[in-house]
Amino acid sequence: MNFKVTLLPGDGIGPEVVNAAVSVMKVAAEKFNVAFKFNEQLVGGCSYDKHGVPLTDEVLSSCYDSDAVLLGAVGGYKWETLPQNLKPEAALLKLRKALGLYANIRPAKVYSALLSASTLKPEVLNGTDIIILRELTGDVYFGEPRGFDENHGWNTMVYTREEVERIAEYGFELARKRGKKITSVDKANVLDCSQFWRKIVHEVHKDFPDVELKDMYVDNAAMQIVRDPKQFDVILTQNLFGDILSDIAAMITGSLGMLPSASLGKNYALYEPVHGSAPDIAGQGKANPLATISSVAMMFNLSFQMSKAAELIEAAIEKTLTMGYRTADIYSPDTILVSTTQMTEAVIENFNHIYDEQALGVFTL
Ligand code: IPM
Ligand code: MG
Repeated sequence: MNFKVTLLPGDGIGPEVVNAAVSVMKVAAEKFNVAFKFNEQLVGGCSYDKHGVPLTDEVLSSCYDSDAVLLGAVGGYKWETLPQNLKPEAALLKLRKALGLYANIRPAKVYSALLSASTLKPEVLNGTDIIILRELTGDVYFGEPRGFDENHGWNTMVYTREEVERIAEYGFELARKRGKKITSVDKANVLDCSQFWRKIVHEVHKDFPDVELKDMYVDNAAMQIVRDPKQFDVILTQNLFGDILSDIAAMITGSLGMLPSASLGKNYALYEPVHGSAPDIAGQGKANPLATISSVAMMFNLSFQMSKAAELIEAAIEKTLTMGYRTADIYSPDTILVSTTQMTEAVIENFNHIYDEQALGVFTL
């Protein structure tokens, strides 16, 4: 099998973490007999510096022509004062809309080796395994009219029936394969758009009677995630609420730098770490590559149907953490401080090791 992958390393630590993930992809490709054709392109601030826009049509064409896109991170202080449509972040929004990436999957899973890194008590956290399913192409992010003048600023929160139906269907399907529980998060006590969201989600639910549906207001959800995260399985929510809740969920795992994400549409898929471009540590070999490596595991699973390879990559990450390797962001005094490259090499070594053991029948996942 041959797969075409567009690489969009972006800004800050993006290039370092994408490099790391690509080296893991190459090793996995060899073991699992697939070939990757990589096409590396500029996105975000670096694209603005070279072309005057954060995303060019050429880059978009490359994405359309790919089986998957791997993105590092975009943004940095340097571009913060640019107008909204030229900011590095605008590239992300354009990619999401143009590729139709309506379903954003953000798992918040606790790595047991990192339990003590959370600000929550281990007994509250232990066993947490949430998926935030965030609608990604609607809501105030894209609603018109929008703008501001001397005396007003305005945005439009809007969803169509079709937009809510397709994300709800995706959510129920997803929950069906996991804990069979969905919490739909909205602000239906105040917002008409949310009232509409809730109504459609309940209509779709009629086709999924085996999945339990609960509604929750977003302010309560923010509190509940911190109070008792284990109560959640799949959290289905609007674009804006998902943006906020996914940061909360990521933080309680104690490993913001560890979490992967997938943004999926009917025809395209983009994978990226949840963390940002961290310009303050860029180019110093300090970045944690595990979120991007884990995003590649999601890519193998969801875009290439290579679930075995995905499992091995995840197992290799776990083992590397259990052995005590830590980049600076997750370091504690009783662990081993390593660079981006050392961490990546350790993951690759463990990947090969687990693969070989399994090939010999010693280890079964
Ligand atoms: C995210 C980010 C983006 C968003 C920004 C960078 C546009 O915060 O992916 O969560 O708001 O969606
Ligand atoms: Mg965000």
